[in-house]
Amino acid sequence: MGTGFLMKEQISSIQTEALELIANAGDVRALEDARVAVLGKKGSLTLAAAGIKDVPKEEKAEVGQLLNAARSAITTALEKKQLALQEVADRAALAGIDVTLPGRAVLTGALHPLTLIRDEAIGILRRMGFALADGPEIEDEFHCFDALNTPADHPARNEKDTFYFDSGKLLRTHTSSVQIRTMEGAKPPVRIIAPGSAYRRDEIDATHLSVFNQLEGLYVAEDVSLPDLKGTLEYFLQELFGPQTEVRFRPHFFPFTEPSFEIDVKLTVKGQAPRWIEVAGCGMVDPAVFESVSKTRKDDAFDPAAVTGFAFGMGLDRLAMIRWGIKDIRLLIENDVRFLKQFA
Ligand code: DAH
Repeated sequence: MGTGFLMKEQISSIQTEALELIANAGDVRALEDARVAVLGKKGSLTLAAAGIKDVPKEEKAEVGQLLNAARSAITTALEKKQLALQEVADRAALAGIDVTLPGRAVLTGALHPLTLIRDEAIGILRRMGFALADGPEIEDEFHCFDALNTPADHPARNEKDTFYFDSGKLLRTHTSSVQIRTMEGAKPPVRIIAPGSAYRRDEIDATHLSVFNQLEGLYVAEDVSLPDLKGTLEYFLQELFGPQTEVRFRPHFFPFTEPSFEIDVKLTVKGQAPRWIEVAGCGMVDPAVFESVSKTRKDDAFDPAAVTGFAFGMGLDRLAMIRWGIKDIRLLIENDVRFLKQFA
């Protein structure tokens, strides 16, 4: 018998054995072993194929064809078995799980409207050259009041309006204390903003909370003027609410600024008559404030004869209420998901 005949016999028995091995493979591992045993570098079919060089010329084509057919039959069987095993594994993984049950929605979080408005406000003011500053929420009376030219008999200091600790410290009633802390630690020019919480013993209603959020600003340098103040805040509010926003400065009184103003923005909420709403207090820093800071610093960096400045403090809660037409400030602290998810 010729080499060709022997080889054909060998190929067909390798194929038969291989298909049997594959059929019997109980898991992915056994299947991989079968593949290596037949098609691997030292696999039975690979070794057999090497013998083709000894096959007489006239039989080579036929033997070659048989080899190819065997290889492809084995490969196909391997692939089919692989899929079948995978399906069995998938089914086992799902055993006891009802895949027809509706899925549970994954709720994605979102930033709180106060965070959104605060970050936007900070962004605008930073582009105008203001740097972030910070100060304690548990403050002493000196930084909250005295240094801000607010005498002991001022109503803001009333026990009934303010949260005092036994130590004499208090929850700051405004972020203006950061003005003082900043000037104690830096020399002019000073151009800062300080967002943060403020606390008052207010009766809670649709427009008042005992904890609310302010954004303080202070700019001190040589020759800071009232037009600088108006231009800065008008620009800021129009960046925040749109270029058509109407802004009005109404003369007012604050102990730490002179002259002082309250700033109103014309609010137009769909379905409501337009109205003016107060958003901030502001003014030119009172020389008495610079004098107090100079006393603490024991230098003349903030000599009232040499520097001027403007300051402002706005209610971030108010800004958020205007931006989104929120009618009740309490929505901002209730954490009702139905409210919050509107900002997602
Ligand atoms: N601190 C004031 C308040 O809480 C707001 C304010 C008014 C801040 C005028 C300022 C300012 O910096 O210049 O009502």
